[in-house]
Amino acid sequence: MTEYTVEFVGTGETIEVSDKQTILKACIEAGIAQEYSCRVGMCLACSAEIVEGEVTQPAARGLTEAEREDYALTCMARPQSDLKLDRGVYPPSIEQDAADAAAAADDD
Ligand code: FES
Repeated sequence: MTEYTVEFVGTGETIEVSDKQTILKACIEAGIAQEYSCRVGMCLACSAEIVEGEVTQPAARGLTEAEREDYALTCMARPQSDLKLDRGVYPPSIEQDAADAAAAADDD
């Protein structure tokens, strides 16, 4: 087991996270107010932009392949290096989901 340092830019919050642990679980244990909802990699509520470093998140089904390079779903993501994350930054596909929902509502 390897421990990595995860720093949240702009907040001054830093935690140690094992490569076997999700970033969200470590946040909850540390009392950091990381937003989340589904905890199964689908809703994107727990998203953070990867400013620096790498994660593994094979179960992050809510992200496109391209988005997995730049965004972490913290409920699924485990660190593979020290990280800098910007919490509450969402991938472009979340905007598309909102647009699709609005279009569907207009059709009614
Ligand atoms: S809490 Fe829903 S994707 Fe992480």
